[in-house]
Amino acid sequence: MSLDLSREMYYSYAEKKKLIFYPRIQKNLRELYKRKLVAAQEAVQVIKSGDNIVLAFGCGEPPALLEAMARRHHELEEVKVHQMLPIREANYLNPEMAKSFRHVSWFTSGPNRQAVNEGRADFMPGHFHEYPLFFQKYINVDIFMGTVSPMDDRGYFSFGLSVDYTSTAAAQARVIILEVNPNMPRTRGESLIHISEVDFIVENNDPIPEIPIPATTENDKIIGGYIAELVEDGSTLQLGIGSIPNAVADILQHKKNLGIHTEMVTDGMVDLIESGAVTGSKKTLHAGKIIGTFAAGTRRLYDFISDNPLVELYPVSYVNDPYIIGQNYKMVSINATLQIDLLGQCASESIGPRQYSATGGQTDFARGCLRSPGGKGFVALHSTAKNGKFSKIVPVLQKGAVVSCSKNDVDHVVTEFGVAKLRGKTARERALALIAIAHPDFRTELQAAAHKMELI
Ligand code: COA
Repeated sequence: MSLDLSREMYYSYAEKKKLIFYPRIQKNLRELYKRKLVAAQEAVQVIKSGDNIVLAFGCGEPPALLEAMARRHHELEEVKVHQMLPIREANYLNPEMAKSFRHVSWFTSGPNRQAVNEGRADFMPGHFHEYPLFFQKYINVDIFMGTVSPMDDRGYFSFGLSVDYTSTAAAQARVIILEVNPNMPRTRGESLIHISEVDFIVENNDPIPEIPIPATTENDKIIGGYIAELVEDGSTLQLGIGSIPNAVADILQHKKNLGIHTEMVTDGMVDLIESGAVTGSKKTLHAGKIIGTFAAGTRRLYDFISDNPLVELYPVSYVNDPYIIGQNYKMVSINATLQIDLLGQCASESIGPRQYSATGGQTDFARGCLRSPGGKGFVALHSTAKNGKFSKIVPVLQKGAVVSCSKNDVDHVVTEFGVAKLRGKTARERALALIAIAHPDFRTELQAAAHKMELI
């Protein structure tokens, strides 16, 4: 099936520029490359105080440019640096540079979580599929910086492992600076940018960061087992962040004709493909193809994706659009949460008021699955946190916690004590179903609280 380019939400680089198939300059590409190639320190001279910079995220972040930018901290003020999910520690995030650089986090992780929670950086709420739209409607992009794979003979670089919002942010930017890295895989789908669009090129050959495969616990395996029982052959999968989705991938290896339409492409998916469980043959959208918007994992994953016609990465405004997700037959999404209340409201991104991650694509996929014929959404969590000290199923969410996924969008909830199907259940039935899968040590107090709230 071809892409539905007419839809308002699907803003791609190609659409915006109307140029990608007819680049302005066809000749002397190498000459042009040489003219645009500068040292990182020179490229970042273009940054002015007050600029809005958008960085590619995850494996796409440009470390040489970030380092060069941080070195200019004494000359700059109030530069806003927007990025989702940084992977590396970056000097510009240090407290002593806070006056020069104001980081705007679109998903907190190790390197920026502290800055956000100390008030030195800001947090941008939103659903992942809307992020490209933000760059078109609400945020003026002065400069885009990201890592790409080397230029091909026709003058195209690939955004590689990070297609997501990068192509749209680049299309909106006044200045585009690319960090060309031979270790960045070239990816298929819609991941290209032409040299005629680029202002400065910097070269770097740092290894692309690797994310270790999360260790799987016994409880992860039990949870994975419950989910696997409900995943039918021929389903199309999205697997989220964390150890549980990874355990599910392991357990699904005996299934048949699975497909993948996911936000993040992971190592667990390569195992599923290599085991023969994934063929994509039953997919109703992009049959036979693995569709994603970014990838993060080990070098094995990156090598698998590199120029592999089986894997196509598209902008997140397409991949995560619930309307698109819902066109997949038997769409299954598996995501994690930090805390859930007795109605099914998921606080997946904060621990109390403390920002831990972001909504990401959790609601995008939950809603997409609800639209999909035969679709099933799963929210998976361990029943307790901090070695059994706290129940993650609670009568009301911790004060200050934010709801990432609404009660109206949650379908199945799974812990190591079983599965609670919430869709189609009343508030009372939900509370009872969730108490039944809470850790036994907390069930009596949950029941008492539910009585007090007149829920049961
Ligand atoms: N109270 C207190 N602390 C809690 C807690 C609770 N209810 N629940 C979890 N924690 C702590 C854990 O102990 C752990 O702390 P540690 O790092 O000090 O050990 C930390 O919070 C993370 O918890 P964990 O359960 O290990 O999370 P995870 O790594 O499996 O990630 C999410 C889970 C929810 C954070 C992650 O899935 C997420 O960000 N989701 C939102 C985005 C999303 O789903 N996108 C989907 C498409 S990819």
